[in-house]
Amino acid sequence: SENKYRRLKKQNLVPVKRLPDALIIGVKKCGTRALLEFLRLHPDVRAAGSEVHFFDKFYHKGFEWYRDRMPPTLEGQITMEKTPSYWVTRSAPKRVYAMNPSVKLLAVVRDPVTRAISDYTQSASKRPSLPRFEDLALVNSTVGWGGAWSVVDASWPPVRLGVYARPLRRWLRRFPRSRLLLISGERLVADPAAEMARVQEFLGLKHVITEKHFYFNSTKGFPCLLKSESRPTPHCLGKTKGRSHPHIDPVAIERLRDFYRPFNERFYQLSGINFGWP
Ligand code: A3P
Repeated sequence: SENKYRRLKKQNLVPVKRLPDALIIGVKKCGTRALLEFLRLHPDVRAAGSEVHFFDKFYHKGFEWYRDRMPPTLEGQITMEKTPSYWVTRSAPKRVYAMNPSVKLLAVVRDPVTRAISDYTQSASKRPSLPRFEDLALVNSTVGWGGAWSVVDASWPPVRLGVYARPLRRWLRRFPRSRLLLISGERLVADPAAEMARVQEFLGLKHVITEKHFYFNSTKGFPCLLKSESRPTPHCLGKTKGRSHPHIDPVAIERLRDFYRPFNERFYQLSGINFGWP
């Protein structure tokens, strides 16, 4: 009956939809899906399955609409969602703050050069006629003595998104550094259990996700899951995660490394973490 339902609800025995306590805000192609799927192994975490895009595309729909996109939770469980475009949405920090000033933020970052190639590989898989990576990332210039490929096209989105310093500054204008956890995309692949220990610590969760959940699948070249709530047998992330990348001319790679070096330095300074990208 209606009364019984209300009583159970009061006793926290009925799950209800709540606004997120934590958000994965980015960065695109750095391992955001892996982080979310790993977090979902935790019984005290419930997450929206697909990207909600509330703070960038659907903010006008209001917080009730947003809440309705969330999975039902019991008190004490953490509600989450991940939408990587929040990282670079100018209005997102202010809007997220308006929802909950003590929300916890997580961002995965990765060597911007491999991130750019990963981003390009995703686009090329949908559009096989796309020009080569080298010809999009670099513009031929006749000025100076650099010759061909001397200038990086900083406005091409796969290149631009790897400049992490500026979006970080925007988020830190609104949130204290302690409220944002930066996760190394490289370490999430090399040692997922260690990286997930940091994540669980940050979210105030019991350390339930451990080595026991992962195995390294050498065919895929990535860590995969032994079991999860939805599947009792070993499985990897989908085919669209962990694609093989095209060979890129080493000269182009070198140009991009030179381009990113000062931005990476700035990002290390701002974040207080040296990610050690080459
Ligand atoms: P590639 O497919 O280019 O290798 P996102 O989920 O943010 O789109 O990031 C995708 C990237 O996550 C993949 O890029 C891959 O490198 C990385 N990744 C990290 N851990 C992974 C895992 N366990 N399985 C597959 N991909 C993983």
